[in-house]
Amino acid sequence: MQKFTFFNPTQIVFGKGQMQELDALVPKNARVLITYGGGSAKRSGVLDAVKKELMQSNRTVFEFGGIEANPKFPTLMKAVELARMEDVDFLLAVGGGSVMDGTKFIAIAIHAEQFMGKEEELLHFGFSTVPVENVVPLGTVVTLPATGSEMNNGGVISNGTDKLTIFHRDAFPVFSILDPELTYTLPKEQVGNGIVDSFVHVIEQYLTYPQNAPVQDRIAEGLLQTIIEVGPTTLANPTDYDSRESLVWSATLALNGLLSAGVVPDWTSHMIGHELTALHHIAHARSLAVLLPAVMRQRKDQKREKLLQYGERVWKICTGTEDERIELAIQKTEEFFHEVGFTTRLSDYGVSKSDIPAVLENLEKHNMTALSERGDISLDVSRAILEDSL
Ligand code: NZQ
Ligand code: ZN
Repeated sequence: MQKFTFFNPTQIVFGKGQMQELDALVPKNARVLITYGGGSAKRSGVLDAVKKELMQSNRTVFEFGGIEANPKFPTLMKAVELARMEDVDFLLAVGGGSVMDGTKFIAIAIHAEQFMGKEEELLHFGFSTVPVENVVPLGTVVTLPATGSEMNNGGVISNGTDKLTIFHRDAFPVFSILDPELTYTLPKEQVGNGIVDSFVHVIEQYLTYPQNAPVQDRIAEGLLQTIIEVGPTTLANPTDYDSRESLVWSATLALNGLLSAGVVPDWTSHMIGHELTALHHIAHARSLAVLLPAVMRQRKDQKREKLLQYGERVWKICTGTEDERIELAIQKTEEFFHEVGFTTRLSDYGVSKSDIPAVLENLEKHNMTALSERGDISLDVSRAILEDSL
C-alpha cells in the first residue's frame, strides 16, 4: 500500500423517512439556498417536504431550480449571484449528482474573492484543492444513487465542450440524507445509470495491479457482487425497498474515498468518458459502459493479475487458460451492462471513427495524455480504446 490519509467528515443519515432529521441538521437561523434540477424534485413533492422541514425553525429560505444534468457553469453562476446578493450561509442540494456537484461549485465560488469576475478559473485546478479559503457549508438530500457526490469533495462541471473537475477539502457535504424511497420516482434509465456508474467507480479503483491492499480489494469485490445482485432486482421492482436501499448504499460507498485509500486507481474510462459526454452528449454512465470493456481488453496484460482475481472472486470463473478466463470476465461484465439496459458499443450513439480525433484533441487539451495506474495510456492508447469500443 501507499502512505495515505483518509478524511471524510460527511454525516450520513440513511433510511425511510429520514427527511424528518433535516430541521436538526441545518443550523437554526441559517439563510439557506435550496438548489435543485429541472423539476423532478418539484413533481415528486420532495422539494415541498424539504421546505416544510426547514420552516420548522427561524430560517430564511431561498430556492434556485434549473440546474441541468451535467451542470453548466453559466447556470451555476446565476445561483452564485443570488447567494451573494442574499447573503446565503448554507446550501442544500436536492437531487442527483448534477445538483450536488453544481452546489459544490456554488459553495466554493460564493466567497472566492480573488476569482471575482473570472470564476471560470475555479475550474482549472483539476484534482487539486481550489485555492479558496471560505467555502459555504452544504448538505444534500439525494434523489439519485449514482455518483457518490453525497459523500465526497469533488464535482464535475460543464463549460461549453469542456467537462472539468473541481475539488476542495471543505466541499464534503456536512450531511447527506439518503432515503431510498426518494429514488422510487426515477425512470428506469436513470436507475440503470446509477447501477453502472457505481459499478465502474468500484472497478476503476480496484482493477489495476496487486497493491497489497486486501482490505480495499475485498470491500470492492463485495460492492461489485452486491451491485450485480441488486441491480437487476431493483430495476425490475423499483419499489422493492430491500434491493433499492442496497443500491443506494453501494453507490455512496463506491466513491467516498475508502476504496482508493492507499492504492493507485485508474480513472481512464471516466476521463475519456467525460470527453464523450462533453462532445456527444452521451449520459455519464452510458459512456462508461462502452469504454470499460475496451479498456479491459486493451490493458489485458497490464491488468492480468487483477483481471484474473476479478473473474475468480466476482464471477466465479475458475477454469480455462488465463486468457480464456480474462475474456470470460470481460464478457460477463458486458452481459451485466446489457442486462441493465445498456449498449456497450459507441456506434450505437452515432459516434464513428471520424469523430475520434476530436475526442483525442479534448483529452490533450485537458492534459489527459498519461492516464491509468501506470501513467502509460498515451493518446495513441486512448485512440485504440475508442476504436475498440466503436
Ligand atoms: O433535473 P431533474 O428534473 O431533477 O431530473 C434529473 C435528471 O434529469 C433526474 N432525477 C434525479 N432524481 C430523480 C430524477 N427523476 C425522477 N425522480 C428522481 N428521484 O435524473 C436526471 C439525471 O440526474 P443527474 O443528477 O444528472 O444524474 P447523476 O446523479 O447520474 O449525475 C451525473 C453527473 O455527476 C457527475 C457526472 O459527470 C454528471 O455530470 N459525476 C460526479 C461525480 C462526483 N461528484 O464524484 C463522479 C461521477 O463519476 C460523475 O462524473
Ligand atoms: Zn462516474
